[in-house]
Amino acid sequence: MLGAMEPSATSLTQAALQQAILHHIPDPAWLKDSASRYILVNEAFIAAAGLPVEAILGRTPRDVWPGQWGEHFMETDRNVVEKGSRLRFEEERPGPSGDLRWFDTVKTPLFDGQGSVMGIVGISRDITDRKEMEQRLRESRTQLRELSAYLQTVREEERSRISRELHDELGQSLTAIQLGLGSLEERHGDPAVWREALAELQRLTRDTVTSMQRLASDLRPPLLDDLGLPAAIEWLLTTFTQRTRVDHTLHLPETPAGCDADTSTALFRIVQEALTNVSRHSLATHVTVSLQAGADGTRLSVADNGKGMDERLATAPSSLGLIGMRERTLMLGGHLAIRSTPGAGTTVDVHIPANLAQAQPSSSA
Ligand SMILES: Nc1ncnc2c1ncn2[C@@H]1O[C@H](COP(=O)(O)OP(=O)(O)OP(=O)(O)O)[C@@H](O)[C@H]1O
Ligand SMILES: [Mg+2]
Repeated sequence: MLGAMEPSATSLTQAALQQAILHHIPDPAWLKDSASRYILVNEAFIAAAGLPVEAILGRTPRDVWPGQWGEHFMETDRNVVEKGSRLRFEEERPGPSGDLRWFDTVKTPLFDGQGSVMGIVGISRDITDRKEMEQRLRESRTQLRELSAYLQTVREEERSRISRELHDELGQSLTAIQLGLGSLEERHGDPAVWREALAELQRLTRDTVTSMQRLASDLRPPLLDDLGLPAAIEWLLTTFTQRTRVDHTLHLPETPAGCDADTSTALFRIVQEALTNVSRHSLATHVTVSLQAGADGTRLSVADNGKGMDERLATAPSSLGLIGMRERTLMLGGHLAIRSTPGAGTTVDVHIPANLAQAQPSSSA
């Protein structure tokens, strides 16, 4: 049922036409005279105003809309009449149920035969969903930019650490070996002195090889490529417990189903990051890592018995380490969830579905 002011004999056909047009518009639409009095409104308008049609027709926005909004609509009507041109604006204001919503409103002047504005036709569309989507897109772009900057920083830090270790450890050991070899030349004569110097040089060389292997392992553990993910996780946990004194339990699948290189790398890096978080933030004394491979894909969980965390941190834009873990999972079509109870630990659960895990082309991190 449309609302229209009592039509005069001459405007009957025009009003009927206007009603027919307005009837099919799902958004609030209206026709006003040049003094902002409602002449015609559609059902969506009546529903949005929440008033009977008699309380709308012949009245101005000041009588229909609460508070400042009535005055605001009068003002925009005046602008349309003065400028004689269409105006469009986006505004956030209370919707029919009182909550704030976004509207895209278009007001168009109607002219009489002499070129004067005789009325205004308008339509207002609720664009809250679009606005929220735009906002989410902006946030996601910002997050991606931050993640990319974070990854650059991590890479730079990794490079300076490697450079430092190469310089301080390997460089110094090799210099010591070089000096030792030089001094051997001068010590011709006593075989006992030679043996002692050679033993020292052998020790130095062994230490250098160990340092070099550790450095290479830190960059990418050869175990991951040679023996697969379970062995690499086992190695990670053993060194983790040695380093941090946090005990661990590891559950591995009875029949280890191989996963592709991308999945192995992602899960390995996720365990690495989760363990770093355990040692840095959790105050845990124990961590349990489970790896399961089934028909529906690969599942991984890293659970600590530490102090837990505020679950809001799990999705906070500032939690770039956690976002990095989640992104690695999403890239493989998987899902990562963080469960935490204050005082009762944190669990990171990851699921990489089988079909995608198998379908990914292989490459390394
Ligand atoms: N296992 C955990 N136990 C308790 N708190 C945790 C745990 N893991 C993460 N957190 C909390 O979540 C926050 C975000 O973790 P995230 O890994 O994203 O960042 P970070 O570890 O602080 O820094 P980085 O960027 O170096 O990883 C941490 O600062 C910490 O407060
Ligand atoms: Mg972290």
